[in-house]
Amino acid sequence: MKIVVAIGGSILLKEYDSKKFQKYSEILKDLSKEHELFVVVGGGKPARDYISAVRNLNAGEAQCDDIGIEVTRLNAKLLLIALGDSAYQRVPHNFQEALEFSSSGKIIVMGGTEPAHSTDAVSAILAEYVHADKLINLTSVDGLYTKDPNKFDDAELVSEITASDLLDFLNGKDMKAGTYEFFDTTAVQMIKRSNLETVIANGYEPENLIKAINGESIGTKVINE
Ligand code: UTP
Repeated sequence: MKIVVAIGGSILLKEYDSKKFQKYSEILKDLSKEHELFVVVGGGKPARDYISAVRNLNAGEAQCDDIGIEVTRLNAKLLLIALGDSAYQRVPHNFQEALEFSSSGKIIVMGGTEPAHSTDAVSAILAEYVHADKLINLTSVDGLYTKDPNKFDDAELVSEITASDLLDFLNGKDMKAGTYEFFDTTAVQMIKRSNLETVIANGYEPENLIKAINGESIGTKVINE
């Protein structure tokens, strides 16, 4: 299968060390023997720290986004180093480059592209662009809950949802630089228009990537209308 994997920066850089990069690189190398892989890496805390510093300098939102994009590319570079020869050793800055680099047959790793969305959207657009079979978004929560699980004991994990219902759920959520909450609506629009098979799962356990690829019931699956 051709698979786009989005890994949240909050997963890779919960701590400022190399452990998650190493673990993910082992799993990705293994999976690349069977699948064609495109990985999109998020910004995490470093991106938010830089964005808040630049916002305090009175930068506009798009300029804040630009700084966030730089950090996602830096994180992508770290994963490239961890993957070594299994990955194409340049970070694509746009989808055309990602497609071109993929003719190497190696794993492609990228970060952000342009302002006004998050790397969730990058991964969904990339999946469209390269005609991926599946999009797997590895994030810091188990998936979508009926309500905030930190506040409500009776919150339940939503195992399946249509893209339209997910869009309704996300409507009105904050979209400023560094503040995409659960999932970016631009990403859901792409998933909806392409009927893209998507799984949103917890990335703290890198093995969840294998489970999601194997079709095991995990996280929240975005299903056809
Ligand atoms: P992330 O995709 O990591 O955003 O990009 P996020 O969802 O806020 O963070 P985590 O990692 O899931 O916790 C970081 C920031 O970089 C900018 C946005 O400001 C985003 O919030 N960005 C990223 C863009 O403007 N365009 C892109 O293509 C990617």
